[in-house]
Amino acid sequence: MTMPHDHLAKTFDSWAQSGRGERMEVGHGDVVAQVIPQLEIKAGDQALDLGCGTGWATRMLAKAAPGAGAVGVDIAPEMIKRAEELHSYTIRARYEVAPFEQLGLADEAFTHVFSMEAIYYAPDLEKSLAEAFRVLKPGGRIDLVVDFYAENEPTAGWADTVGTPMLYLSEADWREHLTKAGFEDAETRRVIDSRGTGDPADFEPSPSFPDWATWCAYREAGSLWIHGKKPA
Ligand SMILES: C[S@@+](CC[C@H](N)C(=O)[O-])C[C@H]1O[C@@H](n2cnc3c(N)ncnc32)[C@H](O)[C@@H]1O
Repeated sequence: MTMPHDHLAKTFDSWAQSGRGERMEVGHGDVVAQVIPQLEIKAGDQALDLGCGTGWATRMLAKAAPGAGAVGVDIAPEMIKRAEELHSYTIRARYEVAPFEQLGLADEAFTHVFSMEAIYYAPDLEKSLAEAFRVLKPGGRIDLVVDFYAENEPTAGWADTVGTPMLYLSEADWREHLTKAGFEDAETRRVIDSRGTGDPADFEPSPSFPDWATWCAYREAGSLWIHGKKPA
């Protein structure tokens, strides 16, 4: 692994150990539950979840259709350990420690590549998208969801808060990166968390959301869903 990868693994190992892995399911669960049913996962399809954390979205992908399977990869061994502890025996899913840039998975093994709030950590985005392209079958789809993007202005300071380099790209940048990597039909759209902003009385300031106005602006911008297709 490279130095940036070692740093990412340490950062996210400590998130896993402090319970922050599980808290991400609470934060991102609503948006992912809106996106996954729209991915047209059919019986027997195979999905890859990039930056799977504790694997909750990997398990949702595997449950999206009878006989579907999913693999979650993550750079942080402690996240993968937690994913295995939380695993359900009744679904076809597994979890591997691997960086986006070197997945160690077979060519054309997947019908879907999915990722929630992870791809912008890639130290080498070009290589990461080339890997996603390689492991997808012809006609397979890529669906990346991010909250950290240039049009979501309240997130601008997140790289300082997390303490690791993060790619702060615009919607147009993401479409261009997908197209350059060989994907067709690159498009972006917003997904709004159906819970809205919640009750101001329950709001607790944090380094990412220091005040209620920042939180509301973040929720109103929504998550960015980036989609593309490997040519058939
Ligand atoms: C913000 S968390 C999101 C986790 C999960 N998708 C979720 O929504 O709960 C980002 C995850 O991406 C992983 N990650 C970051 N950079 C990575 C890389 N270059 N290769 C593989 N995984 C990476 C981290 O270890 C972390 O678990």
